[in-house]
Amino acid sequence: MSTPSGTSDPVRFPALCSPPSHPSRLLIPLCSMDSSVGPLPLPFPPGIPTGAATNGGGDSGLIEVVPVPILTDNIAYLLVDGAAAAAVDPAVPAEMVRAAIDRGVAITAVLTTHKHWDHASGNAEMAANLPGAPIYGSAVDPPPAITHPLTPPTPFKWGTLTITPHGAAAHTIGSLLYHVTSPTDAAGVLFTGDTLFTAGCGRFFEGTPAAMVAAAATIRGLPSATRVYGGHEYTAANVAFGRAVEPGNADLAALEGAVRVKRARGELCVPSCVGAEGGWNVFCRTAVAGVAAAVGGGGEEEVMAKLRSWKNRL
Ligand SMILES: [Fe+2]
Repeated sequence: MSTPSGTSDPVRFPALCSPPSHPSRLLIPLCSMDSSVGPLPLPFPPGIPTGAATNGGGDSGLIEVVPVPILTDNIAYLLVDGAAAAAVDPAVPAEMVRAAIDRGVAITAVLTTHKHWDHASGNAEMAANLPGAPIYGSAVDPPPAITHPLTPPTPFKWGTLTITPHGAAAHTIGSLLYHVTSPTDAAGVLFTGDTLFTAGCGRFFEGTPAAMVAAAATIRGLPSATRVYGGHEYTAANVAFGRAVEPGNADLAALEGAVRVKRARGELCVPSCVGAEGGWNVFCRTAVAGVAAAVGGGGEEEVMAKLRSWKNRL
């Protein structure tokens, strides 16, 4: 549980504190939300603690995560630990700095889920502005500018948090899932990059359906209340696909209604949670007879391949 580790002294980015010249399309409606009304929680199944539908923080004892919408539909994140924050997939550093200033934290580390430009292209700028700060990423097929290559599933400490990287070689060979826990939050949070989204998954650009079956098993092996933060806001399209696969799935029906409201409000459909994904994400349900039947049957790997192929054609 020891390597690699460490947080650097808090550093801000003075040169990056002005608003970005390309505000996110997703950020605009969020800014106009009535702050007196909290975001609508996703309809998690019974048994999941209420706090799992939130972004934590406050007096909850839950790890705090600040979603930061960037580019067209990417979601980067600030993982908060006291006065420090780790930037997760900070492809647009200026947006991350603005979010950090708004929240009153200083970015001291970077977590990279995978090498694609819309996740990792900000790493070099982050590193240049945060001398000595750890830039974490996979040792296999590493993203640019990382300083701390990781080999799953060896956990490491960052501040008061414990971070366990899990390999998920489906979207890219080096994709990582970051499971983060604390002494007061054993279920914790999971950053999934483009491996898993709320009710969906990423394309298998480099890996195989078998690798996605393994990744889904890893995710489903985490606590049901673990909050899941994906790397894109694709939920409406994912739900539409899921409904085509499983029209009788009550969890998907409930999610569809919530997503319609949330997207109309400009809200992001995160966090999801592990228990909910097991109910409404067809890519986590390849062992379910009804899902297999919808694609003509087969073992889990074949079902996964057929599901992804079907989704790719939409
Ligand atoms: Fe990607």
